[in-house]
Amino acid sequence: MANQKTILVTGGCGFIGSHFVRHWLKRHPDFRVVNLDKLTYSGNPKNLEDVAQNKNYIFIKSSIADNEKVAAVFKKYKPDYLVNFAAETHVDRSVHEGAKPFLDANIYGAYALLEAIKEYGLEKAVFVSTDEVYGSLPLKSKNKFTEKTQYAPRSPYSASKAAGDLLCHAYYSTWKLPVIVTHCSNNYGTHQYPEKLIPFFTLRALKNKSLPLYGKGENIRDWIHVLDHVEGIEHALLKGMAGEVYNMGGDDERPNIAIARAILDILKKPRSLITFVADRPGHDQRYAIGHSKITRELGWMPRRSFDKMLPYTVKWYIDNPRWTKSIRGEITRVNSHIK
Ligand SMILES: NC(=O)c1ccc[n+]([C@@H]2O[C@H](COP(=O)([O-])OP(=O)(O)OC[C@H]3O[C@@H](n4cnc5c(N)ncnc54)[C@H](O)[C@@H]3O)[C@@H](O)[C@H]2O)c1
Repeated sequence: MANQKTILVTGGCGFIGSHFVRHWLKRHPDFRVVNLDKLTYSGNPKNLEDVAQNKNYIFIKSSIADNEKVAAVFKKYKPDYLVNFAAETHVDRSVHEGAKPFLDANIYGAYALLEAIKEYGLEKAVFVSTDEVYGSLPLKSKNKFTEKTQYAPRSPYSASKAAGDLLCHAYYSTWKLPVIVTHCSNNYGTHQYPEKLIPFFTLRALKNKSLPLYGKGENIRDWIHVLDHVEGIEHALLKGMAGEVYNMGGDDERPNIAIARAILDILKKPRSLITFVADRPGHDQRYAIGHSKITRELGWMPRRSFDKMLPYTVKWYIDNPRWTKSIRGEITRVNSHIK
């Protein structure tokens, strides 16, 4: 198609990236979507099997940390937009299996993408990051992270994401690269690799296995539906200002034990399946993130309520055993050995 625009999505076979690719193809049929993904354990082509034949969709298997390959992709496809989802994402792995893959993907990968933008240019790029870069809030405080909160990452995962973010800011300050960084709270939804809390607990409860909660299960997370996050990233990309940071949250804080109970109630399983296990080292107590800037400046709001969407999410994992069987790799949580 003449004058067809191109969006390069990295990490598009993962949880959030696959929802973004599907959303973008539907909402922007005038675009070509190039998905560059290394297909690590959490990257699953099945997440996008429904769009694999779409004429506007191109898949490339590669690492964002391979600068020659990234440069070749920029040269060939000349993307107008970039959204970077590609990352090592699981805190427990960064604690228990070593930080090196996190540094490669989350720092060196960001660097390789920024270098390609510097060399070849594009209209705008969003680097998707996490509220975990801001560290931990006390359980009882009412404060929320804002775009002005100082970085204080506490796990190798969040430290590597913070370093990637800082590179984005440095490339904006130095070369005025049109990059935006977004931070978001815990996402939930379909197609999430089942080492993350909600699919992990759902699939265990289905098999009548225990739901192991770290510590007393008091740690609080703010939950946002993945499609709200996807829409927020779309807002940042289309309307956001280069060099800016936009935070997104779901206005839905819950202690982990409440999540476990809610899943058991949906599945009509006994609450006695909940067990308490030794806490994760350095476990952040509470994350809470405000979204007033992106709401005020770009008109984005989270629209989906946790209480409404959790039952649909849980049901999806029950109804899609083919997807569950396609999961590769070991589920890594501190307590994943517990039967
Ligand atoms: N899941 C959340 O709750 C959450 C919250 C806030 C921010 N984020 C951020 O959103 C992004 C996506 O998270 P997710 O939950 O979808 O993760 P995910 O683990 O489900 O997917 C990550 C994807 O990146 C790919 N990938 C990993 N390393 C790569 C590399 N070097 N080159 C190319 N591809 C690579 C994987 O194959 C996979 O497809 C991450 O940057 C994460 O930090 C996630």
